[in-house]
Amino acid sequence: METFNFFRAPQAIIYGRNAFKEIGNQATQFGKKALIVSDEIIDQLGFVRISQEMLSENDVESVVYLGVKSEPTDKFVEESLELFRVENCDLVISLGGGSCIDTAKAVAVLATNYGYIGDYMNGGKAADVTPVPHIAIPTTAGTGSEATDVTVITNTSNNVKMMIKQPAFMPSVAIVDPILTMPSPQHVTAATGVDALSHAIEAYISRKSHPMTDVLALSAMKLIVHNLVAAYEDGENIDAREAMSLGALQAGIAFSNASVCLVHGMSRPIGALFHVPHGFSNAMLLPAVLEFSKDSCIERLADLGRIFEPDKSLTDEVAAKVAVAAVKHLCKVLNIPNLKEWGIDKQKFDSFISKMASDAITSGSPGNNPKVPSREEIEELYQVCFDYDFGYVSAK
Ligand SMILES: NC(=O)c1ccc[n+]([C@@H]2O[C@H](COP(=O)([O-])OP(=O)(O)OC[C@H]3O[C@@H](n4cnc5c(N)ncnc54)[C@H](O)[C@@H]3O)[C@@H](O)[C@H]2O)c1
Ligand SMILES: [Fe+2]
Repeated sequence: METFNFFRAPQAIIYGRNAFKEIGNQATQFGKKALIVSDEIIDQLGFVRISQEMLSENDVESVVYLGVKSEPTDKFVEESLELFRVENCDLVISLGGGSCIDTAKAVAVLATNYGYIGDYMNGGKAADVTPVPHIAIPTTAGTGSEATDVTVITNTSNNVKMMIKQPAFMPSVAIVDPILTMPSPQHVTAATGVDALSHAIEAYISRKSHPMTDVLALSAMKLIVHNLVAAYEDGENIDAREAMSLGALQAGIAFSNASVCLVHGMSRPIGALFHVPHGFSNAMLLPAVLEFSKDSCIERLADLGRIFEPDKSLTDEVAAKVAVAAVKHLCKVLNIPNLKEWGIDKQKFDSFISKMASDAITSGSPGNNPKVPSREEIEELYQVCFDYDFGYVSAK
């Protein structure tokens, strides 16, 4: 039995209001010409232009790739890598949500290790050559990708959302400025916020959790539970936005070192096949999967329950029930649709259940769940979640 643990994080994490202003100072320590990986929306918000100006003030040239769209594919990776090479860049900066950061991670690794991004999946090719430096700047409070050694890229030839995890994917520096998240529309705040909560919960109940991840997961759960609805209801609430950015960052580091579990394992196939945004596909599964797992992690879920309802008289059994019911209620408040309400055709869904279960198991994440599901149980859970009712029922 292993008696030691690994804990990895970027070499520097700069966070808090106006941290964005550090971009030039950081970039100049790593290179002379940056590829900025971003998307059209972030460009329209003016963040790309401001980045280029701050880089230029620090004598760092930049070129921009704006082709990323949600749930990034291997095609975006190839296009942006090509631009990186043609332009002789020596630094990658990602500016956007998890989709931009994950694309940039693949570029940073492939620029020095070569090959196809899928080669690096599931104990395949080792990225053992030092990657190009990568400064990750999130504009959502969700994935925590700025501080994880994971990239999630869709393989367009088989529609599998590949979860690729190796130390080389860890960004060199994370710059986490809550002000950048403020223009996020409500549906993005909801989806990304529930993703962050899922990371915190899954890191906390994971079979691979350990003391260093527990402190971050617990802190993240508190920050997110107490601030997500406030950020959702008023995007201008800077205190709530700041707490969410910090919570998402902590949750990212926690799950990167403790792994995610069944929710993420089952969620990726839904994202790949039905193009449901990652946070929504997690949320559609989260309460039902927690209910399924509850009896194998009563004490851990009880800790979550007491964050929602700090009533010391609750037994662990009741507090764990409170956790599941409160997460369900949170999804309702955030207007999370179930799979049917999202508009997925039931017949089509049924025809993909077997593939989704296989892809979930292959990803390895279900094996970290406190209760490891059988293939049949995964298929059954997909059925339960299809038209899951998020209506709140008090556990007490
Ligand atoms: N690598 C990891 O550790 C990790 C962890 C979890 C999820 N992921 C992956 O990350 C991706 C999802 O990332 P995401 O949830 O951040 O969403 P996203 O990057 O796909 O962005 C969602 C939408 O919000 C827009 N947006 C982003 N920031 C905005 C802002 N400040 N204002 C207005 N609009 C804004 C984007 O342009 C996009 O249209 C998925 O592919 C998921 O699988 C990766
Ligand atoms: Fe996630």
